Amino acid sequence: MIKPLRKAVLPVAGLGTRFLPATKAMPKEMLPVVDKPLIQYAVDEARAAGIEQFCMVTGRGKTALIDHFDIAFELEATLAERGKRDALELLREEAMPPGSISTVRQQVPLGLGHAIWCARAFIGDDPFAILLPDDLVLSQTPCTQQLADVYHETGGNVVAVSEVPPEQTHRYGILNIGEVQGNRVEVRGLVEKPAPADAPSNLSIIGRYILLPEVVTFLAQMERGAGNEVQLTDAMAKMIGHAPFHGLKFEGRRFDCGDKIGFLEAQIAFALARPDLNAAVREFLKHYP
Ligand code: G1P
Repeated sequence: MIKPLRKAVLPVAGLGTRFLPATKAMPKEMLPVVDKPLIQYAVDEARAAGIEQFCMVTGRGKTALIDHFDIAFELEATLAERGKRDALELLREEAMPPGSISTVRQQVPLGLGHAIWCARAFIGDDPFAILLPDDLVLSQTPCTQQLADVYHETGGNVVAVSEVPPEQTHRYGILNIGEVQGNRVEVRGLVEKPAPADAPSNLSIIGRYILLPEVVTFLAQMERGAGNEVQLTDAMAKMIGHAPFHGLKFEGRRFDCGDKIGFLEAQIAFALARPDLNAAVREFLKHYP
């Protein structure tokens, strides 16, 4: 039986050192692309795929992320008083149902795998999505929905993948691929951050996953992998052969917002995708031929 997908884990404990000083007193996931923080893109994308329950794996100094999803009573009252209906409407549309966000703390930065393991009580016996808010995807159909469509057909584990230049394999989880069916590939093996010479392909995992809860059992082994961290990729590799495992070459463009250039490109791409901003952005870009 394929269980419905209702849960998502959002790992948000990272320090954001690549964005200092901006992230000195503010979580990197609160950095806005156009006018929305990265964390909200992730939550909106997951909700569009039918996800109802969220667990943020946070760390120290991340309270703004929790406040962001609370109701801002004073702000709403002031907006109402001043007749700012559009702004008020926007806040209300984005409001989360009560009890839909839980948080756990990752007390020590031992890697992405360890962060997911910290959410084990939330995961329980259910399949769950993982969205890494640094990875932003601009697409027709939200990326998590695209993965959910595959999951509902095949069950098992599904990860979003895209091709990277060979010299960049050391930055990603890389697939060893089996059968290819259109944009869906069978995952035969997974390696975290291999050197180009050791990479089994140039298909990399980007920060969108749908995983079976069994991954927690493998994470609990706390084996250290690349960078001496507990790697999610290594635990996922141990599930191969036990359940279907697919990579999806998703439709859309992915921006690495953990990187300055990726983040800047996302600003432009997301602004151009907005009908209210497109013309003005095109106009000012003329000054930078
Ligand atoms: C993590 C994962 C890696 C994946 C990447 C996608 O790496 O460990 O497998 O390819 O996210 O962004 P990180 O970027 O945290 O080093």
